[in-house]
Amino acid sequence: MTRPTVVAIPGSTRQKSVNHSLIKAITELTAQRLEITVYDGLGRLPQFNPDDDQENVAANVSDFRQLLREADGILICTPEYARGVPGTLKNAIDWTISSGEFPHKPTLLITASTDGTFGHRALMETLKAIEAKNIDNLQLVIQHAKTKISNENRITDESTRHAVEELLDRFVWTIQNS
Ligand SMILES: Cc1cc2nc3c(=O)[nH]c(=O)nc-3n(C[C@H](O)[C@H](O)[C@H](O)COP(=O)(O)O)c2cc1C
Repeated sequence: MTRPTVVAIPGSTRQKSVNHSLIKAITELTAQRLEITVYDGLGRLPQFNPDDDQENVAANVSDFRQLLREADGILICTPEYARGVPGTLKNAIDWTISSGEFPHKPTLLITASTDGTFGHRALMETLKAIEAKNIDNLQLVIQHAKTKISNENRITDESTRHAVEELLDRFVWTIQNS
């Protein structure tokens, strides 16, 4: 049986990112149920400009859009920077507004950061505005994330692992029932 496909977007482009480790941990936890592909091109997308959002967009923008369009679900794992959404992540989402890859697409948002609540709230507003499916029930903030997720890609904090596992069950259910 083929597994539903998910595009994972890490909001951090840092090499030893805790959000990258989280995506790897999630990939392992869902190995039997989901096929997760990590999108690593965030830092190479051009700066969003509505004037450039015409018929012939940059090739990497159309590739990004196609990847999202073809996926059954989207996973975003991101830190918060200066109490906001990392610019590269917001820039990537802005490129999807006119083309509409998010509306009705099951989307799971995890903010793994030191605090994370401000960026998370802002990103939730954005994802609701662009009609990501079931986003109210598919979101989590992991505070002090560096103490709960190891460099070996394990969620070491038990209650966090439970919360993530529950969330993944809901995510898979939402994808299967879309
Ligand atoms: C420029 C900068 C600003 C930051 N601002 C915040 C912040 O406002 N809130 C927060 O929770 N963490 C903040 N952090 C800490 C990050 O959340 C933390 O480094 C996190 O691990 C980054 O995610 P990553 O490991 O996936 O790269 C900031 C880090 C940097 C580099």
